[in-house]
Amino acid sequence: MERGPGGPMTGRTVLVTGGSAGIGRATAVGLATMGARLAITGRHPERVEAAAREVRAAGGGQVDVFVADLSSQSEVRQLADEVLERLSKIDVLINNVGGYWDTRHVTADGLERTFALNHLAPFLLTSLLLERLEESAPARVVTVASNAQTMGRIDFDDLQGEQSYSGSRAYNQSKLANVLFTYELARRLRGTSVTANAVHPGMVNTSFGAGDPSTVQRRLVPFFRPFMRSPARGAATSIRVASASDLAQVTGVYFSNSKPQKSSTQSYDETVAARLWQVSTTLTGLAETRRTP
Ligand SMILES: NC(=O)c1ccc[n+]([C@@H]2O[C@H](COP(=O)([O-])OP(=O)(O)OC[C@H]3O[C@@H](n4cnc5c(N)ncnc54)[C@H](OP(=O)(O)O)[C@@H]3O)[C@@H](O)[C@H]2O)c1
Repeated sequence: MERGPGGPMTGRTVLVTGGSAGIGRATAVGLATMGARLAITGRHPERVEAAAREVRAAGGGQVDVFVADLSSQSEVRQLADEVLERLSKIDVLINNVGGYWDTRHVTADGLERTFALNHLAPFLLTSLLLERLEESAPARVVTVASNAQTMGRIDFDDLQGEQSYSGSRAYNQSKLANVLFTYELARRLRGTSVTANAVHPGMVNTSFGAGDPSTVQRRLVPFFRPFMRSPARGAATSIRVASASDLAQVTGVYFSNSKPQKSSTQSYDETVAARLWQVSTTLTGLAETRRTP
């Protein structure tokens, strides 16, 4: 395959959230190698700048850096404003940021952090960038979910684990929410040339969950690390769904190992998806301020 300028992603602008580390960083490097112009986000200027240097070295092109804590809705809004100011087009948005916490944390907005960061942040960011994606069409939205979605359930009576919290329940629910969001977005974008797909990266050797791991993660992950995928291998499905020409028209699909895969039964429940969309619109304040697709 032709690399760098002249490669298959030449002329395409890709925004990767969480491009400072792990799977997102490897995704950005991979797409830069294919000639794309990258924009990456992270919370810490020095970390995201270091990643940008690696991405630049891989692709030789321009890399835009954005700093934002996506668990804060005001920072998501500020990020969207900055992106709209600096990127005249967005051909691909990769919603990659996600985290796991064994104990319950509350964000600056008073929301449970897993739900806020893993689901509400990509919901809000995608909505705020949607017009630019539509103007840039054909465009793609890729959301990094997880096979944890198969164990997820959307508990509308306790979405934010106020009555009872478990890290795995919150994570599984948030990853199911990623898939429900993707399918609903694809339905709402029918007739446009913007696609929406979700991916599972596999078990990848990153710093994922390191800040507040479960006992199982603390004890077992060190033994599994040698068998986990490298970030580069973990990024392969995101890269394919973001770039492959044979997937240009494919939308509303869950991918694993770079291939379409059936997701959980609940993920196809359009009533649940519509209700989650409605709740998310309210919790992000989009109901009052803007249209969602
Ligand atoms: N690793 C796996 O085995 C695995 C399996 C299935 C799915 N996934 C999914 O893959 C995605 C990426 O995970 P990863 O393994 O690459 O994790 P990671 O190594 O922990 O990287 C997470 C990225 O997200 C950024 N980030 C974290 N919290 C943030 C916040 N509050 N605001 C803004 N950015 C934030 C981090 O940036 P800074 O820390 O530099 O700010 C970093 O760039 C997640 O959605 C995860 O659910 C991972």
